[in-house]
Amino acid sequence: MHKNILLYKAMLQHFAGDSRRCQHLIKVASLAKEIAILEGADAKLIDLVEAAGFIHDCGIVAGEAKYGKGHCTGKIQEQEGPAIAQKILSDLGYDADAVERICYLVGHHHTYTSIDGLDYQILVEADFLVNFYEDGLSKEAITHTVAKIFRTASGKELASRMFAL
Ligand SMILES: [Fe+2]
Repeated sequence: MHKNILLYKAMLQHFAGDSRRCQHLIKVASLAKEIAILEGADAKLIDLVEAAGFIHDCGIVAGEAKYGKGHCTGKIQEQEGPAIAQKILSDLGYDADAVERICYLVGHHHTYTSIDGLDYQILVEADFLVNFYEDGLSKEAITHTVAKIFRTASGKELASRMFAL
């Protein structure tokens, strides 16, 4: 079976009972894959961003256990996530270079000042597209964030269509 399907199942288990998180990871992975395809990325990068979408928030459970529900900031997620991602991905047999890059993305997905690759950019855009909706952001706030953070033509177009910018 494709590793990303196994990862998807592992992450649904990780967030079992937390329907909001389960829905979130499915949407982020799907949008990340879609943007990667529209941007003409190769198969390896498409698989990598989809996997990153499934696992990017894996630090939340540990963060909430340590700091309490509602107190797991983006920074804490970035701190807690990589070690958890490393174990999940290694157990599923992902290549060492994919594990390293995905763990890096998990550890940086709320940091917008050091985006160093198309995979990172795509994960950030996909996460924002989902969070705009889930957090009920105003059109003005969405427009501002898209202008400031979004770089891919496909991500910008998706935002523009979804939110009638
Ligand atoms: Fe997220």
